[in-house]
Amino acid sequence: MPTAEAGPYRATVPGRVNLIGEWIDFNGGLVLPMPLPVVIDLHRQTNDLGLDRIISEQFEESCDFGLEAAAAGHWSDYVRGGLQYAREKGWISGGQTVSIASTIPVGAGLSSSAATIVATLRAAASDTIPVDPVAIALAAQAIENDFIGVPCGIMDQMAVAAGQPGAALALDTRSLHYQSHEVPDGWRFMVLHSGVSRALSDGRYKTRREECMVAATRLGVDYLCDAKLEDIASLDVSLAGRARHAITEADRSRRAVDALIASDMTLFGQLMTDSHISLQADMQVSVPRIDEIVRDAIALGAAGARITGAGFGGCFVALVESTQAEQWADALVRRHRGVKLIV
Ligand code: GLA
Repeated sequence: MPTAEAGPYRATVPGRVNLIGEWIDFNGGLVLPMPLPVVIDLHRQTNDLGLDRIISEQFEESCDFGLEAAAAGHWSDYVRGGLQYAREKGWISGGQTVSIASTIPVGAGLSSSAATIVATLRAAASDTIPVDPVAIALAAQAIENDFIGVPCGIMDQMAVAAGQPGAALALDTRSLHYQSHEVPDGWRFMVLHSGVSRALSDGRYKTRREECMVAATRLGVDYLCDAKLEDIASLDVSLAGRARHAITEADRSRRAVDALIASDMTLFGQLMTDSHISLQADMQVSVPRIDEIVRDAIALGAAGARITGAGFGGCFVALVESTQAEQWADALVRRHRGVKLIV
């Protein structure tokens, strides 16, 4: 067992955007997230206060918590869940002082939660514990499910723990096999905030996930992505929509990975837009304002665009030719007040 060390230990973990394969990481699908050049930078040091002190530069806040205090619906929960897990594993012992600085927008669909937990685990493991990215991702998912109470899939944690900067991570969410693919020269994935805020822990994520599980059970499959389109007519309208999304999105994400490998970015863009339409109509996780922005993003020259992450607001991603990227973003931001370029 490693001894508890004083530190300081540092971990820097990126946010991610999901390019395609949305709402299928718990339905048995292939997903394609990409780490982004926005990061959480976390420092950990053992203290002798008998409590955890969590400091956020972004929120200009410092909070103290008992070592076993439950989640409090507070930003520091993501750090504390990681610290409690690390203490249970014997990676660290005693109270910890953790400072975080982040450029990942919160509540935007760019995985600030997963990045915070993964950074905490990395800084807790320090140099003494082997940090296999899959093991770290699974631990981070368990913390988000059990400590935070959000029944998320594995995409975000794998993207930020195993992804390579600037490359898309094709992740098989059943086997957790993954492979990174570079974005072809001449193209950029532009990530913008819509100006519509959202929160994951407000129950809508859980409801959608439960609907997918009910649909899979009624269709007699373990994973909704394995259902057959011809069978979904037996479901009521909203469950049929969830099933149609999962089945068609699984097909789109497979085709998108092939398109990326073949540098067929026109096809990739079309698949992104089709994904958005399915998220809007069948999964029902978009909002009218983002539907409008996505239409304009394409009208202004993007090869494709879609809402990203869990949805209900937050960011969207568009595929644009590099030479057009700045002009395109300026035009979109001029047309939609509140839209902000992230990367
Ligand atoms: C959130 C969850 C992920 C995934 C996406 C939707 O980001 O954390 O596991 O389900 O929503 O694709």
